[in-house]
Amino acid sequence: MSSSPSSSPALSLRGVAKVFGRGPNAVRAVDSVDLEVVSGEVVLIQGPSGGGKTTLLTMAGGLLRPTEGTVVVAGANLAGLSDRGVSRLRLRSIGFVFQSFNLLSALTAWENVAVVKRLAGATRREAHTKAMALLSSLGLDRRATHKPADLSGGEKQRVSIARALANDPAIILADEPTANLDSARGHEVMALLRRIAKEQGRTVLCVSHDHRIRDIADRVLWLEDGRLRQILVVRDPVCGMALDESLAPLRFVQGGQTHYFCGTVCRDSYLAERRPRDAPSMQHAS
Ligand SMILES: Nc1ncnc2c1ncn2[C@@H]1O[C@H](COP(=O)(O)OP(=O)(O)O)[C@@H](O)[C@H]1O
Ligand SMILES: [Mg+2]
Repeated sequence: MSSSPSSSPALSLRGVAKVFGRGPNAVRAVDSVDLEVVSGEVVLIQGPSGGGKTTLLTMAGGLLRPTEGTVVVAGANLAGLSDRGVSRLRLRSIGFVFQSFNLLSALTAWENVAVVKRLAGATRREAHTKAMALLSSLGLDRRATHKPADLSGGEKQRVSIARALANDPAIILADEPTANLDSARGHEVMALLRRIAKEQGRTVLCVSHDHRIRDIADRVLWLEDGRLRQILVVRDPVCGMALDESLAPLRFVQGGQTHYFCGTVCRDSYLAERRPRDAPSMQHAS
């Protein structure tokens, strides 16, 4: 299936809420979330553990029905579909990437990809051809006949990205895709998801508490206590670290411009290069 035109969002959530349990034990895991993501856009949702990220992503992917609100995927309102209808839409329009890869250990890399293509009705030959082409495009030609146990973490995550792409979905949903990878491999995986979004016009919605992958996103949002808010990402001019404007540990204002720092080492290094007459007014972020 091709991606939807950028004029209409590929994914739209309106007033979405999820309540688990009842009465005094009820947990409002997601609360009044509005979100639209267009084709080719990479949106990263960050926030503390327990903030509602997985719950939100699972509702966006039709794996969990919201208590309130509407979810529209590739033009289809999920509320109007039966569970079977949602499953069919999910298979065609959504690819999932998980923290723990979720590969079938008894199958080889190519079989893990092909099985998803087969579920959507492809013949054995079509599924094999597609799986090999996807693995090849992700630099995994030589790992295609290996089982997950013989692959590194980064390779496993690339196989799971190939699997997510098996049916050419409009939307890729990723839940903590870098959590089991080291920093460099995590960054590679995110760069790959970005490339897929930009080159193939797919929508990527990723939830993660990993701050190191912020530069990959077009937009970074913050989900805490089930509530979503926009965050402004600023950069430390010394180390280049991406920081949340409202949470940056240190800042100083000079000539109407605010500079943000990750800590005192970067701030002092920055100030050491300034002449005394430029001395700024220092502020600790409150
Ligand atoms: N199936 C469930 N039943 C009851 N409570 C749940 C369930 N899933 C998640 N929760 C609760 O909802 C809140 C959000 O969880 P979750 O979406 O997993 O957060 P995150 O992915 O940001 O860590 C937490 O308080 C969690 O305990
Ligand atoms: Mg989670």
